[in-house]
Amino acid sequence: RADAPRGAAAQAPVPVAHRGASAYAPENTLAAVDAAHERGIAWVENDVQRTKDGELVVLHDDNLARTTNVEQLFPGRSPWKVADFTADEIALLDAGSWFAPRFAGERVPTLEQYLRHLDRTGQNLLLEIKKPELYPGIEADILQELRDEGWLDRRHVRDKLIVQSFGADSVRTLHRLAPAVKTGFLGAPAVGDLPDYAEFADQINPPHTGLSAEYVREVHALKGPHGKPLEVFTWTVNDAATARRVAGMGVDGIISNNPDVVRDATRST
Ligand code: G3P
Ligand code: CA
Repeated sequence: RADAPRGAAAQAPVPVAHRGASAYAPENTLAAVDAAHERGIAWVENDVQRTKDGELVVLHDDNLARTTNVEQLFPGRSPWKVADFTADEIALLDAGSWFAPRFAGERVPTLEQYLRHLDRTGQNLLLEIKKPELYPGIEADILQELRDEGWLDRRHVRDKLIVQSFGADSVRTLHRLAPAVKTGFLGAPAVGDLPDYAEFADQINPPHTGLSAEYVREVHALKGPHGKPLEVFTWTVNDAATARRVAGMGVDGIISNNPDVVRDATRST
């Protein structure tokens, strides 16, 4: 697992704040990072995409409409794709009001701003390369930003960073470009295909729906590119009963909008 080796005694899964603690603050904003930090959650998950002028920004959807006021500010720019806007334009958007009035003025963070914020809070990052097929070469761009911000040093690479994606090719590319970085594949490959994924991914991160203890065992039985058993971080678990159920299957991490609820439900006694 990410923060400690899994010993003979079962340990509680690592709680990960999904898009930040997105039950409490607008997803993928610095406020959502803070909401996780305030609740003692060490790991945050985010989603990274690329603007028209090549800046990396933290946003889930490939368009800006659901989580910002882009339609009001740029009414003629439908369908408001991230890739059609510059970083300066995106910096003007309000990414908080849609969630609650008190978050008005919250911005879409750049990856640079996001990493610097995590360095201030001391939190760790499960970085998702979102829709890599839309952004050729984004893996190298992300690595450059991580390098520029000091996130490829020994300490970050060992303890504070995992890069994941639904795109197997993207994870494979990132692993090839930076073999020391821990990686995860989002999804649930057939058991017979798992050894292929173990070539380039340290984690197999499936949805909790359909997950079984047997599947978790099959994943754990394989060693990843760093010679350690593959881990399982499952998503998106937002209630105590489901958290306890997947913890009982032996998952290593649980990605949640309210990770404090998951943490409290699965805390080792
Ligand atoms: O980290 C897992 C989860 O974030 C994957 O789904 O759509 O929320 O990015 P999504
Ligand atoms: Ca995500």
